[in-house]
Amino acid sequence: MFWLLGALALVLNAVIAWSPTNGYAPGNVSCDDNINLVREATGLSANETAWLEKRDAYTKDSLKDFLDRATANFTNSSFVDSLWNTGKIPKLGVGCSGGGYRAMLSGAGMLSALDNRTDGANEHGLGGVLQAATYLAGLSGGNWLVGSLAWNNWTSVQQVIDNRGQDDELWDISNSLLNPGGINILSSASRWDQISDAVEAKQDAGFNASLTDVWGRALSYEFFPTLYRGGEGYTWSTLRDSDVFKNAEMPFPISVADGRYPGTQIVDLNSTVFEFNPFEMGSWDPSLNAFTDVKYLGTNVTNGTPVTQGKCVAGFDNAGFIMGTSSSLFNQFLLQLNTTGLSSFIKGFVGDFLQDLSNDSDDIAIYNPNPFKDTHFVSSNHSQSIVTAENLYLVDGGEDGENIPFLPLLQKDRDLDVIFALDNSADTDQYWPAGLSLISTYERQFGSLGKDLAFPYVPDVDTFVNSGLNTKPTFFGCDATNLTGLAYTPPLIVYMPNNRQSYNSNTSTFKMSYSSDQRMKMFQNGFEAITRNNLTDDSAFTGCVACAIMKRKQESLNMTLPEECTQCFKDYCWDGKLATKSSNVTTLGTYSGSISFVTDSASSSSTASSTSKKNNAVALSQSYSMNWYVAFAAILGVTLGLL
Ligand SMILES: *[C@@H]1O[C@H](CO)[C@@H](O)[C@H](O)[C@H]1NC(C)=O
Ligand SMILES: *[C@@H]1O[C@H](CO)[C@@H](O)[C@H](O)[C@H]1NC(C)=O
Ligand SMILES: *[C@@H]1O[C@H](CO)[C@@H](O)[C@H](O)[C@H]1NC(C)=O
Ligand SMILES: *[C@@H]1O[C@H](CO)[C@@H](O)[C@H](O)[C@H]1NC(C)=O
Ligand SMILES: *[C@@H]1O[C@H](CO)[C@@H](O)[C@H](O)[C@H]1NC(C)=O
Ligand SMILES: *[C@@H]1O[C@H](CO)[C@@H](O)[C@H](O)[C@H]1NC(C)=O
Ligand SMILES: *[C@@H]1O[C@H](CO)[C@@H](O)[C@H](O)[C@H]1NC(C)=O
Ligand SMILES: *[C@@H]1O[C@H](CO)[C@@H](O)[C@H](O)[C@H]1NC(C)=O
Ligand SMILES: *[C@@H]1O[C@H](CO)[C@@H](O)[C@H](O)[C@H]1NC(C)=O
Ligand SMILES: *[C@@H]1O[C@H](CO)[C@@H](O)[C@H](O)[C@H]1NC(C)=O
Ligand SMILES: *[C@@H]1O[C@H](CO)[C@@H](O)[C@H](O)[C@H]1NC(C)=O
Ligand SMILES: *[C@@H]1O[C@H](CO)[C@@H](O)[C@H](O)[C@H]1NC(C)=O
Repeated sequence: MFWLLGALALVLNAVIAWSPTNGYAPGNVSCDDNINLVREATGLSANETAWLEKRDAYTKDSLKDFLDRATANFTNSSFVDSLWNTGKIPKLGVGCSGGGYRAMLSGAGMLSALDNRTDGANEHGLGGVLQAATYLAGLSGGNWLVGSLAWNNWTSVQQVIDNRGQDDELWDISNSLLNPGGINILSSASRWDQISDAVEAKQDAGFNASLTDVWGRALSYEFFPTLYRGGEGYTWSTLRDSDVFKNAEMPFPISVADGRYPGTQIVDLNSTVFEFNPFEMGSWDPSLNAFTDVKYLGTNVTNGTPVTQGKCVAGFDNAGFIMGTSSSLFNQFLLQLNTTGLSSFIKGFVGDFLQDLSNDSDDIAIYNPNPFKDTHFVSSNHSQSIVTAENLYLVDGGEDGENIPFLPLLQKDRDLDVIFALDNSADTDQYWPAGLSLISTYERQFGSLGKDLAFPYVPDVDTFVNSGLNTKPTFFGCDATNLTGLAYTPPLIVYMPNNRQSYNSNTSTFKMSYSSDQRMKMFQNGFEAITRNNLTDDSAFTGCVACAIMKRKQESLNMTLPEECTQCFKDYCWDGKLATKSSNVTTLGTYSGSISFVTDSASSSSTASSTSKKNNAVALSQSYSMNWYVAFAAILGVTLGLL
């Protein structure tokens, strides 16, 4: 009898950790009578602080292992011991850029080079850096990567490689998600029926849905292949209950999305940037300056207090929905569904949705009711429009031009010494990165939302390209003494751009299917791209990464770095010089006219020129580049003046 009750309690527990409905629809739960779900964004949450204590203990040892190995050949190899004796342990963050499946796959290869679980990473890579990292942020395609590793019990890219060909292989995107069954039309149709049912259930429960719900559901089958219907009931906050997170054996995952002001379509550097972490979602920006418990999103609140005392909603924070929110630009793909003879609900939904919300809202995710309704933490010289609105609208995290999720990692309270920026953006017309994301974040610190933000000086796009800063790892902000004009000393940035080693990894952002072979090649190239081709181009590179990691602590403690670091900084730090002449990048942001939407790896591919919706996606991505290229002319003056 008692064991039966026990078993029942266990089952209930398991259910409570997921959505209370065990499906996609959020459900009612009881919560504390005095609960308040929001807080002002002053400092880290108590939960994050408590979690960090566990993580710090873990990273202290793993970072020591990495640095000992990386500096083993230094003339003064005792530097690491001296640093450890001070108790000041460097803190690391890793950021994964957006860029669709290209960013996910190439980024996965890059992360694998930092992960000591990857074959060869400790011998000819940077294995152990990921184990030593405190934070791991992702945005859009980069968030697919971070989210699917973290929410699959912190699986590894090596595990994905070893598992290939299995039924439950992660990231099996051989078929486009529009047609997941490939030639098996019935299987595709039944998938889309399940998706319809899920989104319909959410609507029936009284919640507004948008294309992002459909998009997130569709993605989830690729990201949670082991879970029932791609994790219909699997929530973002479920991670709190997973052992690997509870024990802090993984970095703290963060997803980034942008806020859109009610009634406007503009997303730029004045847009509020949101983060989702396992405990909270919200923004550090003065235009919101608040966080809410991510688990109770969907609750009707006023100033954080549930409108009905003791009644909350849970299950709104579906993991796939949040991943879709960060990548909502790709909602555009769903608009092709009209031509593919699938579920009538989806088609009707798409049609209705477009009529209700106008074409400009294809990319939004609706958070309704607004979790920040009537909060009063917005600083007085900013618009109150977010906190007075009934709905919170979020869009793809890269739409403000900041395609690398730096903001959560730059927060002073998080106190990072170094950020590894894995950049798989498509800044040039050949889909290579050219530093635009760095420039955007650099620029933001001088805007109205950036007063508590510091980011090192970076050059213009022409210099990135002409000096080859986008073809091998480059360090920015090496010298804290050069950064005294900023709000505080920002972390050193280890910039790791996508570049060709063994494979043309500059695939289109809109390529929606990759064969198994293509995925493996993207992984391999990503690994090589951030390791100087497995250290063959520079066997000293691991040591140089160690120098970069230790630099801020060395500066603040006034210690003397090993002499090898001098050469490293000569080789890898941006020297502050501009190389703007004879620019080859004048075509930046101007696409040749049509983007190929590859819907199937082999056959049917259609071009964008035929429908205006598809062009929207292109225009949108194009306009970031254009904006930032133009805006650059303005900030160049500032940069030059400050240097
Ligand atoms: C949840 O509560 C709201 C109001 O408190 C109610 O309208 C709704 O029907 C409830 N949902 C379910 C599934 O019970
Ligand atoms: C977060 O911290 C608060 C206060 O310390 C605690 O009541 C709550 O249970 C914590 N939540 C989680 C998910 O750990
Ligand atoms: C990876 O690093 C962790 C933390 O330092 C360590 O516990 C683990 O044994 C390492 N694994 C491998 C395969 O080196
Ligand atoms: C240290 O030197 C040995 C012998 O030259 C070499 O095999 C090894 O790769 C070097 N290690 C590092 C981290 O540079
Ligand atoms: C580089 O290392 C990775 C991981 O060990 C491996 O897959 C790849 O084949 C290596 N590349 C070369 C050129 O040896
Ligand atoms: C994570 O591991 C737990 C325990 O092994 C398992 O029940 C759960 O299904 C796993 N989650 C995922 C997403 O694979
Ligand atoms: C941001 O807002 C300020 C004033 O509030 C304005 O001067 C500036 O041009 C805006 N920046 C962008 C990128 O729109
Ligand atoms: C889908 O097709 C129907 C009929 O061809 C058309 O009326 C509708 O506007 C289309 N919807 C979209 C979203 O293009
Ligand atoms: C939330 O509660 C308020 C006050 O009862 C009500 O006016 C509002 O319509 C509710 N919002 C939603 C989305 O249910
Ligand atoms: C500039 O373009 C010319 C001609 O296409 C090419 O030969 C040269 O390598 C390019 N330079 C750079 C820095 O890309
Ligand atoms: C740092 O150390 C050097 C010599 O090691 C000394 O000359 C200098 O004054 C020190 N600076 C500070 C700020 O302590
Ligand atoms: C930093 O300052 C030093 C000396 O003032 C100068 O030589 C160096 O070029 C500067 N570095 C950068 C990246 O601006």
